[in-house]
Amino acid sequence: MARHEDLRGQVAIVTGASSGVGWQSAVRLAEAGVRLCVTARRRFALEQLRAEVLRRGGECLVCEGDVTAQEDVERVVRECVARYGRVDLLVNAAAVQSYGPFEQLPWEHITRVFDVACFGYLRFARAVLPRFREQGHGHLLNVQSMLASGSAPLLSAYSAAKHATLGWAQSLEMELAGTGIHVSNVMVPSVSTPMFDHAPTLLDRQPVPVPPTYDVDLVARAVVRLAKRPGRTSVPAFLQGRLMLWLNGLAPSVGKAVLGRFGARMQTTDTPLARREGNLFSPVAQGVGPRGSVPPTPAWLRFTATLGLAALAGGVLGGAALGARGVARAVR
Ligand SMILES: NC(=O)c1ccc[n+]([C@@H]2O[C@H](COP(=O)([O-])OP(=O)(O)OC[C@H]3O[C@@H](n4cnc5c(N)ncnc54)[C@H](OP(=O)(O)O)[C@@H]3O)[C@@H](O)[C@H]2O)c1
Repeated sequence: MARHEDLRGQVAIVTGASSGVGWQSAVRLAEAGVRLCVTARRRFALEQLRAEVLRRGGECLVCEGDVTAQEDVERVVRECVARYGRVDLLVNAAAVQSYGPFEQLPWEHITRVFDVACFGYLRFARAVLPRFREQGHGHLLNVQSMLASGSAPLLSAYSAAKHATLGWAQSLEMELAGTGIHVSNVMVPSVSTPMFDHAPTLLDRQPVPVPPTYDVDLVARAVVRLAKRPGRTSVPAFLQGRLMLWLNGLAPSVGKAVLGRFGARMQTTDTPLARREGNLFSPVAQGVGPRGSVPPTPAWLRFTATLGLAALAGGVLGGAALGARGVARAVR
């Protein structure tokens, strides 16, 4: 496995950097000495990020652009290389989601979610890959979602786009084996970013993440770890991460039943809200910076939920063992 323990002097493009995971990852990378080229549509927000990075002694080039516009994507890469002479790392983080039952989602919402959250990743990858080939090295780091290993109601287009993006990344990783170009993924749980403060919703109620919600820095620190040791898939959370993957493998119907029954309720509050388009087609003023209005779930509550899930898993395993014993007796 390649190692770059010292990231000082490396150059990274970070997409979706005007808020949430992109912003916080940029800050953490800058602290590790990475020189940044940050992009999103909201220039005023990127300028705020730049000021924060400069305060911490980092370097930051602001290039606004829309990941659905091929010319913007190519320009961002060009401007980055013009400024720094190279690009070592691409952090793909720009995404949008649209809340609503599949049958009510306007078709343009579905295609736009794919265009940003999936094709945006592919567009940026195709724009940097020739550069990586020339350099003989490079790292594509994709901010994925735990929804790419499961799903949730009301987010069908987003879940589909995230599944597609993970599949693409895994395929690309195989194609690039041995080239010196690495592909990494970070599987993000629900995090307390501004996503829920600007995402469109057809439900006329304020959307919230599926609990538990983690602090965004959990993901940003995982991004820095991957930058140092590329070519891996990181699952930084335990409860809504490694434990969930394990439980899904063990008893896939349990998660489906719980989210099928309670998932819609879990993701909506009673606060009325009219925000049919949110930041889907054009950027909005609200939701700048790393953290949004939904606070992270307190650690003690996550711990209690972990114990509950462990008990459930114990019950499932115990039930399976008893069942197997019964079958063995019956066939004897
Ligand atoms: N928050 C969660 O619970 C969660 C869970 C799992 C995975 N994730 C993943 O984490 C990543 C970051 O999400 P986040 O939570 O940080 O959300 P966020 O705060 O809404 O950030 C999304 C970013 O994407 C940018 N963006 C949206 N449309 C764009 C477009 N057409 N062109 C260029 N940039 C665009 C936004 O900036 P502008 O509006 O300024 O363009 C913003 O900077 C996404 O890939 C998301 O799927 C998040």
